[in-house]
Amino acid sequence: MEVHYRGMTRDDIRAGMRLKDLAGWNQTARDWERFLEANPEGCFVAEASGRIVGTSASIVYERRLAWVGMVLVDPEFRRRGIGLRLLDIVLEFLDARHIPTVKLDATPEGRPIYERRGFVAEYAIERWSLERPTPPARPAEPLPALLPTILKMDCEVFGSDRSWLLSSVDRDAPEFTLAHEAGGHVVAYALGRHGSRADHLGPWMAATESVAEEILDNFLRRSARQTIFVDLVKAHPLAEKILRSRGFVFSRPLARMVRGPNTHPGCPELLSAVLGPEFG
Ligand SMILES: CC(C)(COP(=O)(O)OP(=O)(O)OC[C@H]1O[C@@H](n2cnc3c(N)ncnc32)[C@H](O)[C@@H]1OP(=O)(O)O)[C@@H](O)C(=O)NCCC(=O)NCCS
Repeated sequence: MEVHYRGMTRDDIRAGMRLKDLAGWNQTARDWERFLEANPEGCFVAEASGRIVGTSASIVYERRLAWVGMVLVDPEFRRRGIGLRLLDIVLEFLDARHIPTVKLDATPEGRPIYERRGFVAEYAIERWSLERPTPPARPAEPLPALLPTILKMDCEVFGSDRSWLLSSVDRDAPEFTLAHEAGGHVVAYALGRHGSRADHLGPWMAATESVAEEILDNFLRRSARQTIFVDLVKAHPLAEKILRSRGFVFSRPLARMVRGPNTHPGCPELLSAVLGPEFG
């Protein structure tokens, strides 16, 4: 079987969504567009037998940190080296542009191929989910513009400026953009996305338990969906306890992995939950 690799275009998003659905993931066509808008030459597909059977995508933050996401292979075509080749193509692209650090959030299935290419585990992340029999009937209105302060704080917490990405997330779901200020400083913030299967809270940052709870409860009131996903940072001292108390249950493990120098790690200890495995 011959496999052909090429750059991804907008016309391939439908095929990307097919692979994403086969994996049971939560992304939307907008998420693929975010990759293609931010890094149009850094997204790839594998074609075999006239159809797209694999994808990989990347996004670059401040030319010093790249994120690899959407590494997906059609179940019928797995274990033939396509996933590893798609990873190699995206890494060759990033290396040619001298991006020193590459990160990703690996599923247990993906982890072996990343380890083979020198990625090492940084910290553990877990997908937790909530099923609500009766979600709020009507979603809430957006709050007054808080984004500029959130973007500044996120740059410190995440370790790189990803204002473009978070602004796009805010545009699509402004009612989920939340912040708590105290003494002129942002002490908590969150954004969220309307995924294909669930509303997804993240990033979710909070300095104390009470503001973390306030942000989560506000998000839950603002979502009209039955299912909610959160990708919590396992080492965070409070996030799991708070999620359990609201009825969330463990769904699956992920490992944040890094290749190259981790010179701008940010402050993961302040993060209750990441934006999402595909974007960091
Ligand atoms: C993870 C994923 C992308 C891997 O894709 P893949 O095409 O099966 O990957 P590869 O074939 O390159 O490698 C997978 C395994 O097959 C083995 N393999 C590669 N070529 C092979 C061949 N010709 N014959 C048999 N095995 C082979 C590899 O050695 C590897 O083995 P290991 O897992 O024991 O290390 C795929 O399983 C997938 O889409 N999973 C669901 C989504 C997901 O979790 N993505 C990762 C996100 S981080």
